[in-house]
Amino acid sequence: MSLSLRRHGPWAVVVGAAQGIGAEFCRQLAAYGINLVMVALEDAELRSLARDLEREHGVATRTVPGDITEPVVLARLDETTAALEVGLLVYNAGLAVLAEWLATPVERHLAMIEVNVRGPLRLIGRFAPAMAARGRGGVILLSSMSGLQGTPLLATYAATKAFTLNLAESLWAEWRPRGVDVTAVVAGSTDTPGYRASAPRTTRAPMPVRPVVAAALRALGRRPWVIPGRANKISGVVLALLPRRLVIGFMSRTMHAMYFPSRE
Ligand SMILES: NC(=O)c1ccc[n+]([C@@H]2O[C@H](COP(=O)([O-])OP(=O)(O)OC[C@H]3O[C@@H](n4cnc5c(N)ncnc54)[C@H](OP(=O)(O)O)[C@@H]3O)[C@@H](O)[C@H]2O)c1
Repeated sequence: MSLSLRRHGPWAVVVGAAQGIGAEFCRQLAAYGINLVMVALEDAELRSLARDLEREHGVATRTVPGDITEPVVLARLDETTAALEVGLLVYNAGLAVLAEWLATPVERHLAMIEVNVRGPLRLIGRFAPAMAARGRGGVILLSSMSGLQGTPLLATYAATKAFTLNLAESLWAEWRPRGVDVTAVVAGSTDTPGYRASAPRTTRAPMPVRPVVAAALRALGRRPWVIPGRANKISGVVLALLPRRLVIGFMSRTMHAMYFPSRE
């Protein structure tokens, strides 16, 4: 199957659209001829990308600036999409707090639940019923390799990404007979502004965004989840074969070496 204009068009909603993986989703969807409703925190970057895509690919765009967890932004998104046929939802916005759990106020943990868990559920609830009624559509959710097991220093974030993966698998099976495709992208380190801001110390280069998004769009309608990149795929297989205790210990050492080497 993969991405199809007939099945996943004419409009896509991309949440977290201004930079990184979300912006690349917009570029590849526009190149495919899919019109875009783009949501991100900052207005200026969002508008500038939307203008570029209209000019380069002749698609139509709408922008909805603001925090997707805010009721006023959700209401604006509802208004903007009321008369549009949305065939694809890409929920890409994510909040990651990288720190020891106890060093992070509980409000920040709850904020991750809001953006990474309640956010996608709300938007799936908004757009999937119409897709199911039409008998076609797609949902792409952003999970992470940190969600494949417990990941110290990213505990709550990793748990939200495990939720995302599990949700996508269930909905993939539930909605296949209804013609609605669901895929989770189990991304490894990817070269985005968000990743760079976390300032990891690693010799392994992160993946560029382009093949990550291309893998996601190829997987849509074929698989409930995809791990982009050969090295990440191999890591995924090896980690799944090892005892979980060992894997969590390995993740703990890796995370401390990447982010808090002085405390090792
Ligand atoms: N990069 C990685 O290594 C990696 C690995 C695994 C999984 N992931 C997942 O992939 C997704 C994208 O990551 P990324 O690295 O591309 O992120 P990024 O560079 O930080 O970009 C995030 C985008 O989402 C928008 N955004 C963030 N919070 C939002 C909110 N509450 N409401 C509306 N828009 C919001 C940002 O808007 P502004 O541009 O206006 O700030 C930005 O456009 C996330 O779900 C992340 O967890 C990333």
